[in-house]
Amino acid sequence: MAQSFHGKVVINGAKNSAVAILPATILIKGKCRIDNLPNISDVTLCYEILESLGAEITYISPNEIEIDCTNITKTEVPYEFTQKARASYYFIGSLLSRFKKANVGSSGGCNIGSRPIDQHIKAFEALGAKIDSEGGTIKAEAPELKGNTIYFDVVSVGATINAILAATLAEGTTQIENAAKEPHVVDVANFLNNMGANIRGAGTDIIKITGVKELTGGATYSIVPDQIEAGTFLMAAAASKGDVTVTNCIATHLASITAKLEEMGLEVTENDDGDEVRVRYVKRPTKATIKTMPYPGFPTDMQAQTGVVLALAEGTSIINEGIFESRFRYTEELCKMGAQITVNGKSAIFEGVEELHGCPVSASDLRAGAALIIAGIAATGETTVSGIEYVDRGYENIEKKFNSLGANITRISES
Ligand code: UD1
Repeated sequence: MAQSFHGKVVINGAKNSAVAILPATILIKGKCRIDNLPNISDVTLCYEILESLGAEITYISPNEIEIDCTNITKTEVPYEFTQKARASYYFIGSLLSRFKKANVGSSGGCNIGSRPIDQHIKAFEALGAKIDSEGGTIKAEAPELKGNTIYFDVVSVGATINAILAATLAEGTTQIENAAKEPHVVDVANFLNNMGANIRGAGTDIIKITGVKELTGGATYSIVPDQIEAGTFLMAAAASKGDVTVTNCIATHLASITAKLEEMGLEVTENDDGDEVRVRYVKRPTKATIKTMPYPGFPTDMQAQTGVVLALAEGTSIINEGIFESRFRYTEELCKMGAQITVNGKSAIFEGVEELHGCPVSASDLRAGAALIIAGIAATGETTVSGIEYVDRGYENIEKKFNSLGANITRISES
């Protein structure tokens, strides 16, 4: 029988903030404490890379560390580390910033289409670095880094954060134009400012960074709540005819997601403090049209989880993927479960069905994995999801959290 999610769930710190803020600690000579870190494999990988470079990390709890990068001297991050996560590209910006030199393997991560880093390179070059990206390694070197104006051709989270990292210790002022505005861009800027940087305008199109000589740390910083984890649980409520409240979130970061849920007929309420959001199923969701966009648009990282709701909604829905080339692989798996979805390039058409049925399916990336777990709960019968190592990259204790909401999930093997 299909199951449904009911109850309250606490949201962890944001994966995409954590994987940028941890490399950013390289800029600091001195200790700092970071809490609300999600306990996920992408974050563990950052710890491993930082320790391999010479950082001293004290693990205070599964979600809090004290880190001291004062004695780092190495500037190389080998491919065996970087192939495991896309965000390893932040080690280029942070090593270049502090040591004017970086040698970082090319980054791996979720297979969702081509993911160039030309805008990152353009930013480093604008600040005076020479980049050699032959042979699977990015070598960056600069006699000195000098502030400049950087206009991005595409809105890129990674390039914006890497430009911030490189400019923080550069001489003079850098202006980033057409910057990404995601909450984790703001989080990285807030973290660096807390440690002594001078970054203004994060969260808008234009970010100004006045270079400082050094960052000395000494402060404690708490990672912003994960908007995508929160959105995943809200979609899980909608897909499973449930009633879920996410707490320790920032409701305004979820606005594009909750607006779409309301449009589909779900009941959405927020508490007065704006740190709790409840989604309650009242009737079968209605069709919707979604286009994924940079923040504050609808996030591409919520596309697959929303696709499960649309597969079960009344009528014909459309998703246009506006960020990545190849993010519909999960739809083939949903079709095995009885969904009716046609993909044409960067668009998918969902003919809503009344129910999904369980079967073995395979996750092709992190968010696809979360979507298939949601589909498995909403479906009749048993579903086995393989490729769960993708999910562990970005969700802390996913089966524990889902089971606390009434699901019946058993982990068959460790990832
Ligand atoms: C980040 C997130 C990822 C999210 C994505 C979009 C992290 C670690 N990952 O990925 O979860 O799905 O933002 O919100 O934070 N592009 C270029 N050239 C570049 C850089 C990007 O053409 O140099 C293109 C990309 O191919 C893509 C678009 O710009 O089409 C946005 O990518 P970007 O925002 O950079 O995504 P990531 O930083 O890889």
